[in-house]
Amino acid sequence: MHVLVTGAAGFIGFHLSRCLLQEGHTVVGIDNLNDYYSPALKESRLALLRPFPNFSFEHMDMANTPAMQALFSNNAFTHVVNLAAQAGVRYSLENPLSYIQANLVGFGNILEGCRHSGVQHLVYASSSSVYGMNKKVPFAVEDSVDHPVSLYAATKKSNELMAHSYSHLYRLPTTGLRFFTVYGPWGRPDMALYIFTKAILEGKPIPVFNHGNMQRDFTYIDDIIEGVVRVMGVIPTPAPQGTPLTPACSTAPFTVFNIGNNNAEPLGRFIEVLEDALGKKAEITYLPMQNGDVEATYADITHLQKVTGFTPSTTLEKGIPEFVRWYREYHTI
Ligand SMILES: NC(=O)c1ccc[n+]([C@@H]2O[C@H](COP(=O)([O-])OP(=O)(O)OC[C@H]3O[C@@H](n4cnc5c(N)ncnc54)[C@H](O)[C@@H]3O)[C@@H](O)[C@H]2O)c1
Repeated sequence: MHVLVTGAAGFIGFHLSRCLLQEGHTVVGIDNLNDYYSPALKESRLALLRPFPNFSFEHMDMANTPAMQALFSNNAFTHVVNLAAQAGVRYSLENPLSYIQANLVGFGNILEGCRHSGVQHLVYASSSSVYGMNKKVPFAVEDSVDHPVSLYAATKKSNELMAHSYSHLYRLPTTGLRFFTVYGPWGRPDMALYIFTKAILEGKPIPVFNHGNMQRDFTYIDDIIEGVVRVMGVIPTPAPQGTPLTPACSTAPFTVFNIGNNNAEPLGRFIEVLEDALGKKAEITYLPMQNGDVEATYADITHLQKVTGFTPSTTLEKGIPEFVRWYREYHTI
């Protein structure tokens, strides 16, 4: 495959690029290396990708239309995996317009590029946050995602709608992946595992929202990558005319999957496993629920299992120590 990975210096984009390169595929990575979190961490990830002869990197903004047009006309990508985005629920209340730029204008450029260059399959990151006010658990792809509670979620849902229109109009095969709280080595400094690990090691209190009454379907990065790679190879086909349409099934070559661990873990247990891995107790500051956040996420992954034969399965007991090992090594603590 000749793959464009957007957000290649990001957490998931880095791991995916490394896996594809190790399998011998050609990868072009792009990233604008913005300072939403440490650009040095992004550079450190890139430093591990640069030695691969089948890797090239372009420092560019996905929302820059002429640059994106040039990228697509200078390459013949067979697959595109769109992982670049302004991520994070909470920051979308602070800086909403950055989400419009990266996640909507940027994604529009991806769709146009794919449409005009005969890409075989566009796989793109959606998010569990699209379930918003949905209370039915586990969250299934057939459930309503019409009530987002953050602009971040609204942009991710918009990506699914935009993708469907291109799948329908231009027969561009597209697959959306609703990721559920991804964690692991090289993880994001704005996410709970990183924030908690740093604070506990520094002897500072950790902020726990909704007075600890939170559940997350934590998904280990290696499981995510195996899922993404499998999904890349399963190009969605249109359902026959007359088939009842569902959010994941259309007469256009379009689908969406949940990719989670199928297990809603209470935040308290997550913290206990982290304390064990660090050999140190956390001091907890309980805080009210944050605007834009949801109490629980829990993925029904039946559709993913049926189509790709894959079930993410890494437990917190296995995954959290892997993160801690990396954290100590990277920060030399
Ligand atoms: N990590 C998770 O738990 C999680 C959960 C749900 C969805 N997602 C989605 O998965 C994708 C990857 O997430 P991640 O955790 O790797 O995030 P990340 O922030 O580590 O990676 C995103 C990368 O995209 C780059 N980027 C942002 N805007 C850009 C632009 N306009 N042009 C070019 N590059 C740009 C950033 O510099 C960053 O390196 C994102 O779309 C995110 O919304 C992640």
